[in-house]
Amino acid sequence: MIKIAPSILSADFANLERDIQKVSSADCLHVDVMDGAFVPNITIGAPVVQSIRRCTGMFLDVHLMVEKPARYIEAFAQAGADLLSVHLEADHPSRIAEALRIMDRCGVKKAAALRPITKAEAILPYIEELDLVLVMTVEPGFGGQAFMDSQLETIRRVRAIVNQYNPACEVEVDGGITPKTAPLVVEAGANVLVAGSAIYGAADIPAAIAALRGS
Ligand code: DX5
Ligand code: ZN
Repeated sequence: MIKIAPSILSADFANLERDIQKVSSADCLHVDVMDGAFVPNITIGAPVVQSIRRCTGMFLDVHLMVEKPARYIEAFAQAGADLLSVHLEADHPSRIAEALRIMDRCGVKKAAALRPITKAEAILPYIEELDLVLVMTVEPGFGGQAFMDSQLETIRRVRAIVNQYNPACEVEVDGGITPKTAPLVVEAGANVLVAGSAIYGAADIPAAIAALRGS
C-alpha cells in the first residue's frame, strides 16, 4: 500500500492546527526539523512537535536535518514523535548507531535518511534494525524544489537492499513529489511519499492526497 505523508513545511505555521486537520485523510504527518547547520534553513524544534502531538492523533514522522542528531533523540521522542529519521551524513557512523540505540530505548521507530550524494549502500550497516529508509529526491533544506530524476536509481538500489535484508522496512521519498513524479518513485520501489507543496498548494487537498496515492 502506498502511504502519503504531507510535509507541514508548506503549511501556515501560524495556523498549524487548522492545516494539520486539512490533511487528516493522509497516512502520517511529516515534520521537518532543520538546524541551520546541517542544512542552511532553520525550522522548528521539540516544543513545536509537542504542541503538534497535542492536536493530532496522526503518526508523526519527524525528519531530523540536524548535525549530531544523537543529542536530540530523547527530546523529540518525549515530545511525541512516532518515528525519527537521522541523516547518515550528520555524524560519524558510531554516533549514528548510538542515535538508533537511543531510539530503541525511547520506543520510537527508526529511520536513516540519505542526501542525494549518498550511495544506497550506506544503509548496509544499519539495515536490519531500520523501520524505514528515507531517500531524498531533492537537496534537503527547502520545500518546492524540482525532483532529481537521478535519485530513481538510488530508490531502486535501496529497495533491492531492503528486500534482501529487511523486507518489512519501508522506503520513503522526500522532495519534488507531484502527481507526475509519484508513479515514477512508486515504480522504483518507494512506498511512503512525502509531499509539501503538491498537497498544501492544491485547491482540493483530499483530492491531491488521493491523486498522489494513485487512487
Ligand atoms: C526538504 C524537506 C521536505 C519538503 C518537501 O528538505 O525535507 O520534506 O517539505 O517539500 P516539497 O514536497 O515541496 O518538495
Ligand atoms: Zn522532509
